[in-house]
Amino acid sequence: MSVYRLIGPLLRALPPETAHGLTIAALKAGLAPRARGAAGLEIRLWGLDFPNPVGLAAGFDKDAKVAAAMLKIGFGFVEVGTLTPRPQAGNPRPRMFRLPGDRAVINRLGFNNGGMAAAARRLAAFRRDHPAALVGVNIGKNRDSADAAADYAAAARRLASSASYLTINVSSPNTPGLRALQGRDELARIVDGVRQAIGGTAPPILVKIAPDLTESDRADLAAAALELAIDGLIIGNTTISRPTGLTDPARDQAGGLSGRPLMAMSTALLAEMYGLTGGRVPLIGVGGIAGGDDAYAKIRAGASLVQLYTALVYDGPDLVADILSTLRARLTEDGFATVADAVGADHR
Ligand SMILES: Cc1cc2nc3c(=O)[nH]c(=O)nc-3n(C[C@H](O)[C@H](O)[C@H](O)COP(=O)(O)O)c2cc1C
Repeated sequence: MSVYRLIGPLLRALPPETAHGLTIAALKAGLAPRARGAAGLEIRLWGLDFPNPVGLAAGFDKDAKVAAAMLKIGFGFVEVGTLTPRPQAGNPRPRMFRLPGDRAVINRLGFNNGGMAAAARRLAAFRRDHPAALVGVNIGKNRDSADAAADYAAAARRLASSASYLTINVSSPNTPGLRALQGRDELARIVDGVRQAIGGTAPPILVKIAPDLTESDRADLAAAALELAIDGLIIGNTTISRPTGLTDPARDQAGGLSGRPLMAMSTALLAEMYGLTGGRVPLIGVGGIAGGDDAYAKIRAGASLVQLYTALVYDGPDLVADILSTLRARLTEDGFATVADAVGADHR
């Protein structure tokens, strides 16, 4: 039994950001349980060998402080960030809310982070000890920046050398105007700028999209992803919608909703984007994963990798090993030798 069974309820008795701060401090101090690994879940993508397809979603480790600890608890990869060029404080508190009955969280943090320079130094030190670790870096723009494309280019230039992949985040709901950057022309300008900034031997470039796109937005994005030869799409971010059935009074808080209520809608979007891109763009499925069956559903719907965040708040770090063993069992039951064999199986 992990110590988290004892401290989890204590953490959940604290305000969410206080609990998160304590968790990061404990992880930095080395208090991460080491997970038993799960064999038979390896997948190769973009020339990288992922030990398993289950990653930590962006936002948990915004400042790249605890990637090593999160890999140790069993994640196959970790995405740090969102990082902006300059440090920024984010929105006034409170700005993060648990919805325990709904197994959900609403946040309107607004890219609170210590800026790219501090993170780049931390990541460079991390890389000296862990050259092969799979750590993606999620980048965004400062709230008060007038030139979005210049911000993404600056962050990419500073962070690319330590990144297994770069994620262009154009889908957080808490930076005014950010989601408008999902339009074809805006995205092309950003992707071109990032590519110019990092040059030839660059890490793969992914784009993280919102679950709240209209039908025509979705078709445009799929076309843009193919045209711009984007290396992957992350589907997706938190939703500004409030699915029916939410019971917690905090559902009326402004911000992006994550967790269980996001599972169905984000998986439907994933499946649709897989279809629209003909399975030619690798997809990372994220939104509402709370168990191995959820992870498996996203893989069958078209995800080559998956990520999660909110379920960790409710279930603690033991969840990762549970997901890996359930996932391996489901693959075997359905006769798939590898994760790759199951990717997009629902479409065949
Ligand atoms: C508190 C919190 C902060 C987040 N911060 C970021 C962020 O900085 N950048 C980003 O791309 N996504 C961020 N996300 C979104 C997650 O990466 C993920 O896309 C979303 O929560 C859906 O996954 P989940 O249901 O497993 O949490 C954040 C989510 C939460 C709950």
